[in-house]
Amino acid sequence: MQTIRLKDNTFTMAITAEELERQVSRVASEMNRDYEGQRPLLLAVLNGAFVFAADLMRRLTVDCEVEFVKLASYQGERSGGQVRDIIGLHTDIEGRQVIVVEDIIDTGLTMLHMVETLKSRHPASVDICTLLLKPGKLQTKLDVRYCAMEVADDFLVGYGLDYDGLGRNYKDIYSIIH
Ligand code: IMP
Ligand code: MG
Repeated sequence: MQTIRLKDNTFTMAITAEELERQVSRVASEMNRDYEGQRPLLLAVLNGAFVFAADLMRRLTVDCEVEFVKLASYQGERSGGQVRDIIGLHTDIEGRQVIVVEDIIDTGLTMLHMVETLKSRHPASVDICTLLLKPGKLQTKLDVRYCAMEVADDFLVGYGLDYDGLGRNYKDIYSIIH
């Protein structure tokens, strides 16, 4: 399909499943090389990263574990302060080599918060692995070790990424038409 329609918007094909497969394989090869003989813990960020994490992990040949985590937002005690907690993390990460697996880094604020929160639990290391990165929108200094593809600023859906809950099921990635 060249275009898809989700709710009130039309999206056009931007990245094919074949290209995604190539880039995910490349990232997996880099990880297999970097983590040889070790046992990293992948933390896949729900909901968006579930497709990427599944494809990535099936290409890893090093011993590895996975957990699925979510950043929960709630109003904190401090006035106006948004506190965000990691939920779903049932493994003690102290001394572990952690790899955060995310669908897309836009401003980078979500990932920055995730990494800071994880570091307070004293892992041996925290690496960032993202399917997509929008360099044009990044507002923070993030050390992204693994990135499948850099993309333009436009809103994307498919391969796990959603528009208001829809579109995660497509195997290709589509870009919004304004
Ligand atoms: P950030 O904190 O601005 O980096 O936002 C990252 C989060 O926003 C991602 O985990 C996605 O859930 C969502 N997001 C950012 N850009 C897109 C997009 O183009 N399509 C779908 N979700 C997006
Ligand atoms: Mg997300």
